[in-house]
Amino acid sequence: MTPAELLLRRYAVQGLVAEAGRIALDYFSRKESLGVTMKGAQDWLTVADGAVEDFLRARLAALFPGDTVIGEEGGGDPSNAVWIIDPIDGTANFARGDRNWCISVGFLLDYKPTIGIVAAPALDELYVAQRGQGATLNGQKIAVSGTDDIRRASIELGWSARTPPQRYLELIGRANAAGCSIKRSGSGTLGLCNVANGRTDAYAEPHINAWDVAAAIVIVDEAGGWVNDFFAGDGISKGNPILCCTPALASQLSDITGIA
Ligand code: IPD
Ligand code: CA
Repeated sequence: MTPAELLLRRYAVQGLVAEAGRIALDYFSRKESLGVTMKGAQDWLTVADGAVEDFLRARLAALFPGDTVIGEEGGGDPSNAVWIIDPIDGTANFARGDRNWCISVGFLLDYKPTIGIVAAPALDELYVAQRGQGATLNGQKIAVSGTDDIRRASIELGWSARTPPQRYLELIGRANAAGCSIKRSGSGTLGLCNVANGRTDAYAEPHINAWDVAAAIVIVDEAGGWVNDFFAGDGISKGNPILCCTPALASQLSDITGIA
């Protein structure tokens, strides 16, 4: 793929994600329209998830017919030019009226995370990154915190019902014993973006899916952060553990979390 073709993808999809954000925000402002159901324990679904994914799939297929698409709601197949979509990340927040949710669209070229676009319309924030070109938040360059002392680090520890309680409690205990301040905000994608912009120093979760992190990995990388090899093995289809952080904390946090 030529640099011009890549740039075209980045600009076109930036517009698409902003448009998808407006669709999602419209649902968010009309709570009665959300049609909330549960896919499983603590696994929320709203009508907006399907509507946003359908919109993105249709527009991506029209713009880039040779690329494949994998989405949280509709699945899909990997290829060497694949879009990975989470129509609403932080659906539990979205369904309850909490503004911490986003739309995430990542592009993997030859299986490498290459473009990442994340819109958090209720927070009025748009993250854009392309491999080798830096990362921005609302057009301004962003960078990780540079924290090098674990005793002043803030770490977000993500959780879903896919993680056994024992493993999660152990993780909290180990991070807390090392001196970290711990939080959980309910959107893995924004958790990674918050490492990229320096609001936190690290994000870890024992299992997360590719659609939650495909875009944000590029954003963290380009903001100068450290990220584990998430796409190793079956990461793209089955998910993997994730750890990302400011580089000075990487080896210590790898030991603490057991994620390398
Ligand atoms: C979930 C959120 C949550 C993370 C989970 C994800 P969803 O995605 O990102 O913060 O901890 O692993 O499954 O269900 O809100 O799209
Ligand atoms: Ca998600």
